[in-house]
Amino acid sequence: MEKEIKNVEYGLEKIFDGAQDFLPLLGTDYVEFYVGNAKQSAHYYKTAFGYQSYAYAGLETGLKDRVSYVLKQDKIRLVLTTSLVSNSPISEHVKKHGDGVKVIALWVEDARKSYEETIKRGAKSFMEPVVEKDEHGEVVRAGIYTYGETVHMFVERKNYNGTFLPGFKEWKSDYNPAAVGLKFIDHMVGNVDWDQMNATVKWYEDVMGFVNFLSFDDKQITTEYSALMSKVMSNGNGRIKFPINEPAKGKKKSQIEEYIDFYEGAGVQHLALATDDIIKTVAELKARGVEFLPPPPQAYYDEIPNRLGTHMSIMKEDISKLQELSILVDADEDGYLLQIFTKPVEDRPTLFYEIIQRMGAKGFGAGNFKALFESIEREQEKRGTL
Ligand code: FE2
Repeated sequence: MEKEIKNVEYGLEKIFDGAQDFLPLLGTDYVEFYVGNAKQSAHYYKTAFGYQSYAYAGLETGLKDRVSYVLKQDKIRLVLTTSLVSNSPISEHVKKHGDGVKVIALWVEDARKSYEETIKRGAKSFMEPVVEKDEHGEVVRAGIYTYGETVHMFVERKNYNGTFLPGFKEWKSDYNPAAVGLKFIDHMVGNVDWDQMNATVKWYEDVMGFVNFLSFDDKQITTEYSALMSKVMSNGNGRIKFPINEPAKGKKKSQIEEYIDFYEGAGVQHLALATDDIIKTVAELKARGVEFLPPPPQAYYDEIPNRLGTHMSIMKEDISKLQELSILVDADEDGYLLQIFTKPVEDRPTLFYEIIQRMGAKGFGAGNFKALFESIEREQEKRGTL
């Protein structure tokens, strides 16, 4: 059963009676990557993706064993962390997985309660509640493991008015490339191993009180060569959406299997970042060297008026412009959406980004899955991993 509510900021209108409210989530707080060289990663995300310098912690602020750069663009906060010593959980993580997402931090009203409630429901602890303080107040954080070695950190910051977190100082840089119009994280996708999707879905239902509101089986997400299955999990207010993918058997290797092989386990596959003007954002990203998947064939663009049906009348974008930038279009009963996918942003074919502009549509571009996966397969072919 679904109840209608309006959430203008996130473009969401539904909450689910099935979702329990023991874990009210206010939004995504930050996403932390463990990387081999945070200084250079920070430069890349500023230059290529238009993030702004925001906060810093390292040797200069009293840390001895690690350094973190925090970047910001509108509501999106990325933390890039590198170990300064060989023997640390951060170094081990990078050694095994390469650069990747370690923490998906969730903004909550009460971090202790969030931790207790999820542990009570079976979560594995990553970090017991810790109170961090400085002259700007205090933050309470606590963390639990989700799929693979990935962590959900609960962040309570209602008594804090400093930059980011206690222990961080404001990062002022002389190098400040302009933002590219990225607004907030629309969804974050996890890849899990063979036969693990349903267990992961059940974990989100039981431990986090999420609901599974969309499912795609291997008949829907398939090409001539490969397939995958996906289920989309959402929290009660719809602000947090986590699709979960699992590989499926095909004639050749699924892109999810390729990910699992190279990441050496389950992990975050892509972050979808929302923009209000995808044409402007993507043109800017391309000019700054971000590499996107190659465009689908001409026939894909010829079919857009058919696929959009009545939504064509509200479509503002010029199809030839979308084609020029390789942007994909999909529609559902509520409207349409525009999306595009980058190539992996690191050497291992693991993490990539999606740029998305929703014009009413609430789906994830199911109508584009075939074209998208065929593009990915052409890239896998080049890597010899198909
Ligand atoms: Fe996506």
